[in-house]
Amino acid sequence: MAELLIHGGNPLNGDLVIGGRKNSAVAVVPASILAAGTSTLENLPAIGDVSTYTEILARLGAKVDGPAGGVLQVDASNMRPEGAPMDMVKRIRASYYLLGALLGRFRYARVGLPGGCDIGQRPIDQHLKGFRALGAEVSIDHGEVVAQADALVGTHIYLDIASVGATINIMLAATLAEGTTVLENCAKEPHIVDVASFLNAMGARVVGAGTDTIKIRGVKELRPARHAIIPDEIEAATYAIAVAATRGDVTLVNVVPKHLDSVSAKLREAGIIVEENGDWIRIIAPERPRAITVKTLPYPGFPTDAMPPMMSLLSLASGTSVISEGVYESRFKHVDELQRMGTNIRVEGRSAVIEGVEQLNGAPVQATNLRAGASLVVAGLAAQGRTYLGGVEHVERGYEHLEEKLRSIGAKIERTPGEFDDRKDDEPRVVNLGQD
Ligand code: EPZ
Repeated sequence: MAELLIHGGNPLNGDLVIGGRKNSAVAVVPASILAAGTSTLENLPAIGDVSTYTEILARLGAKVDGPAGGVLQVDASNMRPEGAPMDMVKRIRASYYLLGALLGRFRYARVGLPGGCDIGQRPIDQHLKGFRALGAEVSIDHGEVVAQADALVGTHIYLDIASVGATINIMLAATLAEGTTVLENCAKEPHIVDVASFLNAMGARVVGAGTDTIKIRGVKELRPARHAIIPDEIEAATYAIAVAATRGDVTLVNVVPKHLDSVSAKLREAGIIVEENGDWIRIIAPERPRAITVKTLPYPGFPTDAMPPMMSLLSLASGTSVISEGVYESRFKHVDELQRMGTNIRVEGRSAVIEGVEQLNGAPVQATNLRAGASLVVAGLAAQGRTYLGGVEHVERGYEHLEEKLRSIGAKIERTPGEFDDRKDDEPRVVNLGQD
């Protein structure tokens, strides 16, 4: 298990380039199989999920080149609609996009059910509802979703939940349906617009992405295209929050400030200076943050994926903050680990009451999912002393070049594959967490 040692208490300063958006990449990569021929995808983040997805496409018969330097070429001329290895599919939550892409291209798909994770059940009933509405027969066979249709026919679909995944997945299948599909109560995340612009570059006819009603006029076939994905506003939000927590001054470059409006507004409310223009935002945090309330909501509300890092910041605020989680039924699993660093947080259902403390102290902590891990990195950077983070591979699923990027803005951070673990075979781990 890769592990990270963070020497906390150093303000983050400098400039940092933000990478491509993970949640766009894991949709655009599978979307490329809707067209025979070679598509070129650019600005992909160098993260595990992109490499795993590339491998899955190769196992389904695609010829892939990359990802290297953020560029991936996918020749989807000879694809099979089944055979995605279950272990790889379960590694990526967003493997469900294979269903929409394969069903759209081949009228058939067999893909393993995505694993749940520890932020909630995360069913895909809305995705399957959409496929059935388009005319597919959908069943679950030994842990795999099997979807097949003689024909896909455009129709009117109303989502019971404004689900990001279902909005994108149904859009993928509907691009090659006969006739027009009107999808209502859609999610409006920026990467939905990003996927739609790639589909339209392939010759699809999608209008309304980014609003709650998307209209897709089916076409006979799509052609390969070139597309550069949008920047990752959750990566940007996480670094902005880390700068605020360490009272630093950092300019984040290659962002779309508008995509961060809700995060910038909350940081300003907490007394952080946020300047923005063109493709950058600058975070200046001279003093201790003020306590605020945060409610996570679908876009354009405060993003649930930035909530765990935000909790680490507010654990140091002057006063009592309240965070309400409006998207998932349980996304507070990281609180126990934060408490080991001296936070004072009380979870009540889908809300957390955070009594700000003057200082956090380094501790050995364990990441259990991507954004929980990000919250522990933020807390470790702000804490006095050393934090020993286990399970850093969870964090690296969504944050490219994590160590290099943090070091480039002044963090004292190093990988320690068991370096501190001087135990003999049967001794418990003893980690020296003396103050730096
Ligand atoms: C996407 O997940 C993101 N993942 C998540 O980011 C993000 O938290 C989420 O959108 C919300 O913004 C990817 O894009 C790969 P949803 P998704 O469908 O599509 C319920 C990260 O850290 N629901 O919008 O799975 C669901 O349980 C990850 O980058 C159903 O009940 O999210 C949840 O409570 C974590 N039935 C809510 O809706 C369904 O069919 C929102 O889920 C689908 C969803």
